[in-house]
Amino acid sequence: MKKAMKFVVALGLVAIMGVSVIGCGGNGGNDAVDTTEVVDNDDANVEETGETDDGADVATGDQTVGVSMPTQDLQRWNQDGANVQEQLQEAGFNVDLQFANNDVGTQVNQIENMIAAGVDVLVIASIDGGALGTVLGQAKDAGIPVIAYDRLIMGTDAVSYYTTFDNYGVGQVQGQFIADALNLANEDGPFNIELFTGDPGDNNAHLFFNGALGILQPFIDDGTLVVQSGQTTFEQAATADWSPENAQNRMEAIIASHYADGTVLHAVLCSNDSTAQGVIQALRTNYTLPAGADWPVITGQDCDIANVPLILEGYQSMSIFKDTRALASAAVEMVQAILSGGTVPVNDTEQYDNGVIVVPTYLLGVESVTIDNWVEWLIDTEYYTWDQLGVNESDWR
Ligand code: GAL
Repeated sequence: MKKAMKFVVALGLVAIMGVSVIGCGGNGGNDAVDTTEVVDNDDANVEETGETDDGADVATGDQTVGVSMPTQDLQRWNQDGANVQEQLQEAGFNVDLQFANNDVGTQVNQIENMIAAGVDVLVIASIDGGALGTVLGQAKDAGIPVIAYDRLIMGTDAVSYYTTFDNYGVGQVQGQFIADALNLANEDGPFNIELFTGDPGDNNAHLFFNGALGILQPFIDDGTLVVQSGQTTFEQAATADWSPENAQNRMEAIIASHYADGTVLHAVLCSNDSTAQGVIQALRTNYTLPAGADWPVITGQDCDIANVPLILEGYQSMSIFKDTRALASAAVEMVQAILSGGTVPVNDTEQYDNGVIVVPTYLLGVESVTIDNWVEWLIDTEYYTWDQLGVNESDWR
C-alpha cells in the first residue's frame, strides 16, 4: 500500500558536490567569516574570476557574499548555512554568514550591515518573505544583486534570482501519500484527518499547504475525509516559526477536544519534520490508539536527523528528501555567474511571482522517503552516515 512514490521534478540537476552534511546543533554557527576584504560596489559585477581545472569560475578572493539564514533552531538552516558557506569558500569567495534567530528585525539589521560592508551579492533565506522590501531597496540602490534562497522574497523588485525546490510539488507528494495510504480513491471512509502547516510569513508554507490540499480537498468536500477539529484554513493550520512546540500544543488541544473519546485519527498532514515532531510527541503522550486502529498516517519534510528514527519506528510515514547540498550548489553557481557576467542558470521563469515581479528561478526536485527507501536516499547519497543517525547498518542491509 505504501509504495514509495518517486517524484522527480528536477529540470536539469546541478552537480551535487561532495559536501558532508552536519547534524543538528551548534555547527555552522554565528561565525561570520572574514568580512575585512570587501570590494567596492562599483566593481561588484566586473570582478575577474580565475579558472579551475574543470573550467569552473573561481573568485579571486576579494569578493564577499552575505548569507542571511533565518534561524539555528531548526536543523534545516544550520545545514544550509554550512553548505552554502563551505561551497562559496571552495569557489574562492569570502562569506559573511549570519543567522537571525527567527526575528525579522534581526534579519533586517544583519542585511543592513552586510550592505554597509559592501558585500557583492546577498543570499537570503527570509523569515518573513514580505518584510524585506525596504532593506532590499537599499541593496538595489547599492547595486547588490539578491538571491532568494529556498523561500521567495515577496513584494519587491530588488530580488534578482530565486533557487528552491518544487514547493507546490512537495505538498502534492504529501497529499498523494495520504490519499494512497488510506486508499481514498476506493474507500468511502469517513477517515479523520488533521492539518498542520508552517509559518504564515514563509511563502513556502502556503505552497506546501495548497499543493497538499489540491489533492485532499476533493475528498474533504465529498466527506471521505473529515477534519474533526474544523480547522481547515491555512491560518488555522499554520504553525508560527515552524516550531515543534507550537505544533505539539495545537495537536494536544485537538486530541483533548476531538479524539479523547475513542474517535480514530487516521492521518495528520504535516508540512515538514519539525511540525511532525510536535504532532508525534502530542500523539504519543495524549492519544490512546483505539483497539484495532492503525497509527495515523503522518507526513513530513526535510528528513531531519531527529525524524529518521520516527520513520524507522513507524511513528512517521514519510518525509520529503530535499538535497540541500544541491540547493547550495545552485546558489553558488548563481553567485559565480552573476559576478563573472555569465549566464545565470534558471529553469522556471513563470511560477514564482512575488507580487511585483516574476523572479527567475532554478528549481530542484524532491523525493518521497519512507521506511522502504530511506537507505537509498539518506545513506547511499552520503547525506548522512549511519553513526549520525544512530542506526546499525547491519539491521538495514
Ligand atoms: C521551509 C523549508 C522547509 C522547512 C521549513 C522550516 O521554508 O522549505 O524545508 O525546513 O521552512 O524550516
